[in-house]
Parts: sequence; C-alpha cells; structure tokens
Amino acid sequence: MAQRATTNLGGTASQIVVGKVAHGLMSMTWKPDPVPDEQCFEAIKAGIDALPSGAKMFHRTFLPENTLRSVNAVNEKLRGTKRLDLFQCARVDPNLPVELDHIGMSECSAETLRRGHKVHPISVVEIEISPFSYEPETRAVLNVLITAVAAYSPLGRGFLTGQIKKLEDLPADDNRRQFPRFQEDNLEHNLAIVDVLTEIAKRKNITTTQLCIGWVSSLGPHVIPLPGSSRADRTLENCSGGDVTFTETELQEIHQVIEKSGVKGARNPSVAVLWARGLIQASSKRVLCLYSNANRI
Ligand SMILES: NC(=O)c1ccc[n+]([C@@H]2O[C@H](COP(=O)([O-])OP(=O)(O)OC[C@H]3O[C@@H](n4cnc5c(N)ncnc54)[C@H](OP(=O)(O)O)[C@@H]3O)[C@@H](O)[C@H]2O)c1
Repeated sequence: MAQRATTNLGGTASQIVVGKVAHGLMSMTWKPDPVPDEQCFEAIKAGIDALPSGAKMFHRTFLPENTLRSVNAVNEKLRGTKRLDLFQCARVDPNLPVELDHIGMSECSAETLRRGHKVHPISVVEIEISPFSYEPETRAVLNVLITAVAAYSPLGRGFLTGQIKKLEDLPADDNRRQFPRFQEDNLEHNLAIVDVLTEIAKRKNITTTQLCIGWVSSLGPHVIPLPGSSRADRTLENCSGGDVTFTETELQEIHQVIEKSGVKGARNPSVAVLWARGLIQASSKRVLCLYSNANRI
C-alpha cells in the first residue's frame, strides 16, 4: 500500500505529525440508527493502520455536553454584561482526563481566530471546506496561516460523493433532509456540479470523493480534509484522496466549476427550520443558533 501523506498541526502542537486526511466520526452516531460498534472500530482502525509509523490520525468527535452546558448557563446569567474570565470545574469528573495539551477553535471567522490565537496558541481551526463551501470567509480563514485547518464536510455531507440523486435517497429521519442544499429547489442544480466534477475525476481515474478530498488538501500544506465515514473501505478511499496531485490546469478547471456553477442553498438550515423541527431546545438555543448561522462569527 502507498505511504500516506502527512502534515503537522499548528500552535503548541506543531511537533505533532498527522495524516494529511483526517477521519470524522460524526456519521457513526449522528443518525437515528447509529452504526454498530464493531463497524465503527473497523473503520477507525483501517484509517490508523494506513498511516506511516509515528503519524497520528486526527479524529474529531464531540465533547461531553456538561462542560458546554455549564459555560452556557454562566453566560446566560451574565447576559453579555461581562465576559467569563475563568472557567473552573467544581469537582473533577473521574471519567474525564484532565490532561489537555492543545486548543482548537471551530466555525469561527478569520478575525476571531486571530483574537483567539493571541489568548492562547490555536493548534487547529475547524471550518467547512468543499467544492460546495469555498466562500470568501472560508478563504479568509485559510489565509490566516497561523494554524492547521481541519476542513470538515469536504464531501458536502455526502452530496459530493454522487450517491444522493434525490431527497428520497436519504432515510426519512436523516438530518440532512433539513439542509438547504439537499432541498428539491436546489438539488438538481447542485447535482449538475457533482456531474462535472465526476467527469474530471473519471479523466484522472479517481473517484469524485478522492477528487474533492484531494482538491481540499491542495489548498495548502496546513489544510487537513476531515471527511466522515462509518465504513472501513470508504475511510481508506478517503485517506488516499490526500495523495492525489493536480496539474495547474486541472486546478484551474476545478476552480472554474466551483466559481461558475455556484452551489445553491445555505450551508446550514435556518434557525426557523431547526425550531420548527424541534432540533433546537430552549436550553441550547444560543449554541445551535451559532451553528445554524450561515456566516462565521
Ligand atoms: N465543526 C463543525 O461544526 C462540524 C460540522 C459538521 C461536521 N464536522 C466534522 O466533520 C466530519 C465530516 O463531516 P460530515 O460527516 O458532515 O460530511 P462529509 O465528510 O462531507 O460526508 C460524510 C457522508 O459521506 C458519506 N461518505 C464518506 N465517504 C464516502 C465515500 N468514499 N463514498 C461514498 N460515501 C461516502 C458518509 O457515509 P458513510 O458513513 O456511510 O460512509 C457520510 O454520509 C464529521 O464527522 C465531524 O467530525 C464538524
């Protein structure tokens, strides 16, 4: 098997070598019928085993919700009149390690990233990047160049794999049904973009998935595509996307497709839709509002 490409994280973690393609674990659990543990372990292990010796796999999952809930509760009481200067757990949770070496940020603007980096070096910033998500605010974060960038949803949440042709291809209770890019008004237009990318991929004898991951990876040595898969075979296919190289002409061609076709629909569902579907609870309103905002703060 070919040796996978690697890169380094940033800030305090700049000595850490990771695979050039990360592995998101969200699609294993963020669905009504979570994938069996055995299949998850197989997928996770496949990605790790494919790395050169000494390199780590950048895995991404969610923190336990209590920390978030505590910070939210404090901020709610302060009503924006004062910032939270110190966060301290009153009791140590024996189930959680206290060792924490590095800090990352997620879904922030270039300006907020710079501000955060002044407070403490930021090792990784996580933002959505794919041929469907390459807006000026995304490029601004990429240009900050002080940290590694984990590029989440490089496959447009599965849309760019070419396997979803109509809304009915998604299970009835699949969260992606709420996402504007999958809605009927936009789906056909967006599928046409996938078709053009698929043509380019075919010419290169790679899959559309590898083309998307390879293109995201080509945006810089500090960019780590973060595709999610619950399957071992797909995890390996995705990891190999980081080894794809493009000629200048091919890059221009892909860039033109992205610029000219213009994806239709916002990255996330509107707050109104999330409320209506019961996906926002009163207690977590603020966090999910940020999440559902199309623009980064
Ligand atoms: N910071 C944030 O706000 C944020 C938000 C969203 C996601 N994320 C992170 O980014 C990671 C990836 O994002 P994502 O899962 O939303 O989107 P994605 O990586 O763009 O797409 C994942 C979807 O594509 C399918 N897929 C993956 N590889 C495939 C392949 N080779 N062929 C065909 N289908 C394939 C997966 O299904 P299978 O599982 O069946 O393979 C899954 O449905 C998440 O796991 C999470 O860690 C972060």
